[in-house]
Amino acid sequence: MTNQVTLIATAAMGLEGLVKSEVKDLGYTDIQTENGKIIYKADYLGIARSNMWLRTADRVKVLIGEFNAYSFDELFEQTKAMPFEDWLPEDAFIHVVGKSHKSTLYSVPDCQSIVKKAIVSRLQDQYNIYTRLDESGARYKIEVAILKDKVTLSIDTTGSGLHKRGYRVEQGEAPLKETLAASLVKLTNWTPEKPFVDPFTGSGTIAIEAALIGQNIAPGFNREFSAEEWAFLPQSIWNQALEEAEDLANYDQPLDITGSDISHQAIEMAQNNAMEAGLVDLIKWKQMNVKDFKPKTDVGYLLGNPPYGERLNDRPEVEQLYKALGGIMKDYPKWSVYIMTAHENFENFYGTKASKKRKLFNGFIKTDYYQFFGKK
Ligand SMILES: C[S@@+](CC[C@H](N)C(=O)[O-])C[C@H]1O[C@@H](n2cnc3c(N)ncnc32)[C@H](O)[C@@H]1O
Repeated sequence: MTNQVTLIATAAMGLEGLVKSEVKDLGYTDIQTENGKIIYKADYLGIARSNMWLRTADRVKVLIGEFNAYSFDELFEQTKAMPFEDWLPEDAFIHVVGKSHKSTLYSVPDCQSIVKKAIVSRLQDQYNIYTRLDESGARYKIEVAILKDKVTLSIDTTGSGLHKRGYRVEQGEAPLKETLAASLVKLTNWTPEKPFVDPFTGSGTIAIEAALIGQNIAPGFNREFSAEEWAFLPQSIWNQALEEAEDLANYDQPLDITGSDISHQAIEMAQNNAMEAGLVDLIKWKQMNVKDFKPKTDVGYLLGNPPYGERLNDRPEVEQLYKALGGIMKDYPKWSVYIMTAHENFENFYGTKASKKRKLFNGFIKTDYYQFFGKK
């Protein structure tokens, strides 16, 4: 086995470009983008570094192989031909998950069980085991993904999704996924010395992600990944990634980040989460109705995920909220404002046309990310 691997960083729909630029920032150059995935060549250390640093990706997988299959026999034989013993020791706990789209082999449970049988058979041959595998060791989550008859076999290296940074001890009603919050921040041109406000902070996700970005703190610093258990990966890659993250963190970078919310409980929650992230003194928290927001500086960044008014009854209230915010911000033309909402008439109520709009999904909710660039 060589030290060379092909990794797949998965991305939410529409965020592939951000994930790709994060992969590039890690120094990898051989990169391809497909729907929902960024595929790149790396070495073992790349597995640890990608998990440690990718803020906007959902997970990192190792690509084992790709082939076309139109029958269960083909699926079995070609899976069995893959060098699974390069990754799985003889006691591996093998968990196969699958998906199939527009393919002859459409029964996902059957595909999963065939792939599992093929891997077991391969390992039995390679390790000269004539009994059942005991599967008492580390867990290897193998994915069989079939798209238009092309089978992709990969092993997940991440474990719980990368959005689980380890700091969210409490969450409100509609918390943003940390990966999406980081993406929203990365889609602005905020730089860490500029004021940054989230006036609908809820559990504090956007403000916390901004602080992590501002001080270049690795999002994976506070958690573990499933590949840390893998016998064939050297422990040194995890140590090295951690040391690198420590070296690159810029704890001296001053920040001017504020999270506010109308709800006292939300602010308490956000504070607890920030405490868990080790950022509590770095972010200012304040209970405040957005209608009372008054920028203290000439230039700044406001990024918010306000209520969308999905229930008809709530609509007039959120519309008033958008109107009030627009009324405040029009007196501060040098502020850049970024709002993610599913309300289709947001701009009408806000009172200004966005400089730019971008379609994003918040879970299954289709939203627009309205971007109002401040005057230079
Ligand atoms: C969709 S949630 C934001 C979730 C947040 N991004 C997170 O990750 O937890 C909207 C937030 O807006 C707050 N909110 C509603 N009306 C408000 C108002 N008039 N002023 C300030 N905050 C308000 C709610 O309390 C709620 O926490």
